[in-house]
Amino acid sequence: MTLNGSKIACVGKGGAGKSTTLVLLAKALRHKGYNVAILDADSTNLGMHLALGIPSAPAPLISFLGGMVFQGGSVSCPVDDPSLIQDPVIDLLTLPSSFQAVSPDGIVLLQAGKLSDFGVGAGCDGPMVKVARDLQVRKGNEPYLLLFDFKAGLEDSSRGALVSMDQIVVVCDPSTAGLQTAITLQQVIRSQKTGAAPSTRHLEQVQMADLMIELFRQTKVKALHTVLSKVPDSETESYMLGELKKAGMNAICSVPNSPDLRSAWLRGKELPTNGTQQAMAQLVSACESFA
Ligand SMILES: Nc1ncnc2c1ncn2[C@@H]1O[C@H](COP(=O)(O)OP(=O)(O)OP(=O)(O)O)[C@@H](O)[C@H]1O
Ligand SMILES: [Mg+2]
Repeated sequence: MTLNGSKIACVGKGGAGKSTTLVLLAKALRHKGYNVAILDADSTNLGMHLALGIPSAPAPLISFLGGMVFQGGSVSCPVDDPSLIQDPVIDLLTLPSSFQAVSPDGIVLLQAGKLSDFGVGAGCDGPMVKVARDLQVRKGNEPYLLLFDFKAGLEDSSRGALVSMDQIVVVCDPSTAGLQTAITLQQVIRSQKTGAAPSTRHLEQVQMADLMIELFRQTKVKALHTVLSKVPDSETESYMLGELKKAGMNAICSVPNSPDLRSAWLRGKELPTNGTQQAMAQLVSACESFA
């Protein structure tokens, strides 16, 4: 079995280390020979391209796929209209080069869209979430493993972004809020997977409500992996593991607190992998066991 063709997302509290974990995971997967693409689906954050060693960010896919509904385009917010994007399969061979960028190690970067690109009043990024929910990527006949960098918290999850993910990485930093958010996210994803119905009372058309329920019922998520992030020492690690264990969660690995990673984000440099290879090898094999 291969992970090519799978969709994997990182979720967690704001600043927990989601983007860092995602970039390190992408590098480890690419190193193993997978066809890796990242969709930057965090509409509020900048800098993913620099962390991958790419000088400038690609243009937003939301424009390629029909534009935001708020600007007269066809891509609507999944909360108002859960219907699927018409043609969400992107072939990298035909996607115009302005919409894709490639890192020095061969990771393809795509971007859903940034709220700042859409001007004053474009306060809802639901359409970008729908792009993430529906997107599939291939290059000719070769499927790509798609990694998703979401913005912090639960909002994208409640908009249905996670229904199409095969695996989810819950990133947890050493703080009460980090632990609590990781526990809550895991509970939300588990209840979604076991058939909890989404809120549909606001939807006026019965067909829309039915579609939303059906999409949530089809939630794919085969595996949830927990990763500890920014871990400074073994005492902190043991405490975090103990707290997660009380909630029935086991962490796969710990990314150490690393001045080199912090410095790379600060200076807009490609993230170094030193000191994180073992943790990422553990995460890769956990993902591979659910391929
Ligand atoms: N392992 C680490 N060691 C040291 N510092 C780290 C580590 N991981 C992340 N950081 C620091 O924490 C900051 C936030 O990390 P990151 O952007 O990965 O978090 P995030 O969860 O994606 O945040 P957001 O919610 O804003 O998207 C980084 O800018 C970096 O300074
Ligand atoms: Mg981030």
